[in-house]
Amino acid sequence: MIKLTYLGHACFTLEDEKHKIIFDPFLSGNPLAKNKPEDIKVEAVLVSHGHGDHLGDAISISKSNNALIIAPFELAMYCQKKGANVHPMHIGGSYNFDFGRVKLTIAHHGSAVVDEQITYTGNPCGFVVNFGGKNVYHSGDTGLFSDMKLIGQLNKLDVALIPIGDNFTMGVEDAVKAVEFLKPKLVIPMHFDTFEVIKQDPKVFPRN
Ligand code: NI
Ligand code: MN
Repeated sequence: MIKLTYLGHACFTLEDEKHKIIFDPFLSGNPLAKNKPEDIKVEAVLVSHGHGDHLGDAISISKSNNALIIAPFELAMYCQKKGANVHPMHIGGSYNFDFGRVKLTIAHHGSAVVDEQITYTGNPCGFVVNFGGKNVYHSGDTGLFSDMKLIGQLNKLDVALIPIGDNFTMGVEDAVKAVEFLKPKLVIPMHFDTFEVIKQDPKVFPRN
């Protein structure tokens, strides 16, 4: 049995009896997150880009679990310098991990770690993960792009996790178009309500 759990914002866990991974673990500092990073037990942390609401607790979760951070090369190198175990990848590439296959997809967005300074962390990405025979697409933060058609054609998607919050990513109207392109069996909206500027009513977003 495969279980996909929403932990708020763009954070999900994906697990079966043997394996568990997490996407974009933004828990500390997320006003809506109910889980603490200390309670997360995973073998891999997939990070779509360097923004704080995605990199989040990735490095501490990686260290406490001895879990692999899977991210675009520049971001992976950033995490490695902070002491994490990493597996760098890049857009278009896939790799077979113990838990399943991961392919990096394009995302139209930015990627930098912004603290006292701004550290560039390469291109942002999305992920297509084949886990327990199911294809899960996590788009990362992105605007709508027509190559989503190609992602839908090349991968029979069981689930698509796509943003609807607007302002920083697609809003609802574009997300509806994205679903048309991706043709997933199930779509789960993400990246809304966490902050005032991305408040959204997910009920206006039709699920299929
Ligand atoms: Ni972002
Ligand atoms: Mn974001």
